[in-house]
Amino acid sequence: MALGRVKKTMAVAVAVVVVLAVHFTRTMALDPTVIVIGAGMSGISAAKMLSDAGIKNLLILEATDRIGGRIHKTNFSGLSVEMGANWVEGVNGPQVNPIWPMVNKLKLKTFFSNYDNLSSNTYQQTGGLYKESFAKAAFDMADKLSEFSTNVSTSLTASRLEDISILASQRLMNMVPSTPIEMALDYYNYDYEFAEPPRVTSLQNTEPLPTFTNFGEDVYFVADPRGYESVVYDIAKQFLATNSAGKITDQRLKLNKVVMEIRYSPSGVIVKTEDGSIYRGGYAMVSASVGVLQTNLINFQPDLPRWKILAIYQFDMAIYTKIFLKFPYKFWPTGNGTEFFLYAHETRGYYPIWQQLERAYPGSNALLVTVTDDESRRIEQQPDSETKAEIMEVLRSMFGKNIPDATDILIPRWWSNRFYKGTFSNWPIGVSRYEYDQIRAPVGRVYFTGEHTSEHYNGYVHGAYLAGIDSANMMIGCIKKKICKFQIMPKGT
Ligand SMILES: Cc1cc2nc3c(=O)[nH]c(=O)nc-3n(C[C@H](O)[C@H](O)[C@H](O)COP(=O)(O)OP(=O)(O)OC[C@H]3O[C@@H](n4cnc5c(N)ncnc54)[C@H](O)[C@@H]3O)c2cc1C
Ligand SMILES: *[C@@H]1O[C@H](CO)[C@@H](O)[C@H](O)[C@H]1NC(C)=O
Ligand SMILES: *[C@@H]1O[C@H](CO)[C@@H](O)[C@H](O)[C@H]1NC(C)=O
Ligand SMILES: *[C@@H]1O[C@H](CO)[C@@H](O)[C@H](O)[C@H]1NC(C)=O
Ligand SMILES: *[C@@H]1O[C@H](CO)[C@@H](O)[C@H](O)[C@H]1NC(C)=O
Repeated sequence: MALGRVKKTMAVAVAVVVVLAVHFTRTMALDPTVIVIGAGMSGISAAKMLSDAGIKNLLILEATDRIGGRIHKTNFSGLSVEMGANWVEGVNGPQVNPIWPMVNKLKLKTFFSNYDNLSSNTYQQTGGLYKESFAKAAFDMADKLSEFSTNVSTSLTASRLEDISILASQRLMNMVPSTPIEMALDYYNYDYEFAEPPRVTSLQNTEPLPTFTNFGEDVYFVADPRGYESVVYDIAKQFLATNSAGKITDQRLKLNKVVMEIRYSPSGVIVKTEDGSIYRGGYAMVSASVGVLQTNLINFQPDLPRWKILAIYQFDMAIYTKIFLKFPYKFWPTGNGTEFFLYAHETRGYYPIWQQLERAYPGSNALLVTVTDDESRRIEQQPDSETKAEIMEVLRSMFGKNIPDATDILIPRWWSNRFYKGTFSNWPIGVSRYEYDQIRAPVGRVYFTGEHTSEHYNGYVHGAYLAGIDSANMMIGCIKKKICKFQIMPKGT
């Protein structure tokens, strides 16, 4: 009897699947629903591109209760600070960074970050500034080393040699950074940008860096009560319905929807969320970070092909932690040429890069210190009070015993967060351009976007924006022109 019931249930299930498949082929051909997973910069950019192309049958599923993803402001002791992206990077160059006009259209407050005077603002581990002439010499060496690495990279590409790490190129010049000040400058040149050390970072794909060569070397710090995220909202409001108060009310955007399964076949996709909802569509556009794709949060049915899994797992999700601190009063130098300062500790990456926020947030008495990688993991796993105690010890060695304790501290935890698993992708050694393209390549009706799929600008806001456009265009080509084959040869199969 029990057996009979199972058989009957299965028969019903089969019938349902058949009906669904017929339904799919009939409705999908003309007006397929595209399910966009994630409403960060890339997901919103892709959705807008699809909408502009006449594909309005969209459904955007976002795990959190907001859009913007890794661009996110918060209220820290009354200041609106950015826990994620903070700078428009790559400005005043030969091409226009597409984010820059967006920021200016909204009149967001931005501040040019001037690092020129860092050599006068580099502190020794045991206290006090380095003598300026000594520090200057170290800076000159670091600049030479970076120029040498760019030369090595260019020659690698010209002679079609295999990629090497930035560290290996430094050894070729016999100048591996080892003293505290050398390590601090090395950290400033590389880890502060890529959030991982030169030991693991690809030389060929970062030196020179397309963001700086194409868009310019200047960077602008966004500090506005409306937040950097307002650029994402502005794009969203160009194609999603809003109410009279300007709030997005479009039913096609669904917040608090955690996608847990994507079932895909030649006829369509079925997406399941943790709250038990099931959405059917013609195509899926997945914009979750490469860190998320390296976990089992989203279960693909059938499993992704081997070449795709390898491409996803060969890439790196890096971690960059911005710690904000508030004090009763300022005890650090202020005025021109003092915004940024370095702390050179014998442990590489121990609270090395500092920014005093007087210019961006006048009267705030706030500091920002940046750590990355292993230090970020360590700090995410300990109580804030311990981190604060470590930081106070560092500050006391820089500025003396009598400085006041911080009254507030903010430590974002992007790595522990299952919807991010880090902050941005970094290009590891040994991943070729070709293997990188496989990260973006669609698998049947499942398409991929996100900063990690950007052709030239992985790791950046502009990368996420441009990736959204590119991935949407691939999908539009398939839906409208039936160009759906992407020649990506399997690796390691
Ligand atoms: C600390 C930090 C500092 C940075 N600094 C800068 C900077 O100064 N300048 C710069 O240009 N860039 C910076 N970046 C990088 C930049 O923020 C990112 O490259 C960009 O915002 C990524 O956008 P995205 O759409 O690719 O990904 P995300 O913003 O991660 O968007 C993906 C969305 O998918 C959602 N999601 C994940 N899993 C699921 C699921 N299972 N179901 C449904 N939804 C899901 C997430 O909640 C998220 O909203 C920084 C990033 C961080 C975190
Ligand atoms: C930010 O938080 C402070 C308390 O720390 C509060 O007084 C203030 O109203 C908040 N501001 C906003 C814009 O939410
Ligand atoms: C890098 O290459 C340029 C041009 O060939 C050369 O002038 C310069 O000296 C090189 N720099 C280093 C540090 O090797
Ligand atoms: C700081 O620099 C700005 C612009 O470079 C200049 O206008 C201003 O006078 C300077 N202030 C001081 C105190 O030197
Ligand atoms: C550089 O920094 C030092 C130390 O903080 C400061 O005294 C000096 O005025 C700054 N120089 C410039 C040009 O801004």
